[in-house]
Amino acid sequence: MSNKEKLAKTMEFPPETEQPNVYPLTWHRETQKMEEIWDASQKEYWDPAKLPWDTFDVSRYSWEERECIAYWFTILSVFDASAPPVFAEALIKTYEVHEEDPVRRCFFSVLRDEQNHEQFCGLMITKLLEHPDPLKYEPKTEIGKKAQKNAKWLYYNGGRYWDGYKRAVPRYSLAVLFSSFLMGEIASSTIFHQMANGCAEPIFQEGFRNIGRDEGRHMAICMSLMERDYPKMDVEEKPIITKQIRAGYLFLSAILFEPPEEFWDIPEDFIGIQRECEEICRAAGFHIPTYDAKKENWRNAILNLKGVLDKFNIPFPAIPEVGISGEEIRDVDMDDIIPVF
Ligand SMILES: [Fe+2]
Ligand SMILES: [Fe+2]
Repeated sequence: MSNKEKLAKTMEFPPETEQPNVYPLTWHRETQKMEEIWDASQKEYWDPAKLPWDTFDVSRYSWEERECIAYWFTILSVFDASAPPVFAEALIKTYEVHEEDPVRRCFFSVLRDEQNHEQFCGLMITKLLEHPDPLKYEPKTEIGKKAQKNAKWLYYNGGRYWDGYKRAVPRYSLAVLFSSFLMGEIASSTIFHQMANGCAEPIFQEGFRNIGRDEGRHMAICMSLMERDYPKMDVEEKPIITKQIRAGYLFLSAILFEPPEEFWDIPEDFIGIQRECEEICRAAGFHIPTYDAKKENWRNAILNLKGVLDKFNIPFPAIPEVGISGEEIRDVDMDDIIPVF
């Protein structure tokens, strides 16, 4: 249709708009649970800038401690700073497929929350390092230098999934795309609550409590989406989910556990440096869960997800790293990652 052709002069009503188009002019409300989650997200909204920053005196910490804590936030940012574009893309998809109104609102709330988490990381890193760019910042200590090398490698790795993700979004349904989302949300909400309880500084307690609460809501969104869609899912979609769970495990382990070397392209001394940094953080009162606590937490999150998938007869992948047997999934690479956090 050329722009010059004025249909309105030739007919009473316009032709049907080809469907689905990007905007639904409908506000169907079907999933009551999503309404409740949305209401909670409105009530629990928080502003990172309004946290008790004035109580956080970084000069009480040594430069080693500051650089190690900033390193942990940099690692977290590899995930949380990519979450806003990832969920922005997912939000667009909810409009393209004319999702019901509460689902669109819930995805919008995830996007808004993840943007907040990213801001929190940025404010924290900037305050600790007195520099807004942790990769360009010039470290003052030996451990700071090593930590920055680690961060550079993780940043490089994290940059490799975006094209694969953009290809996957139009191909799969929301429930398939976000199948590994639940595992990440369960584990991260637990980790953030553990950190909130274990940290001495009010800024960490409050920030992590808010983030943990947000992640708990994301978990509930994912659950309701699965409960709504999995019973009517095509059998061909099941193997994709099984692979996604394994991919999600490998991807998120870098922050929730330790990065598996079969998947992450990282130097040999990476894990050693990471452990050394975490030790310094813990000694400074910044409570990163220990290796065993993280492993236990990760295992519980995965078992929870397994419980959900078993209900829908979706085969679970083997995750021998945390002692879970299942279907063997090989050759997962960055291209297969649907990043979720
Ligand atoms: Fe987050
Ligand atoms: Fe999240």
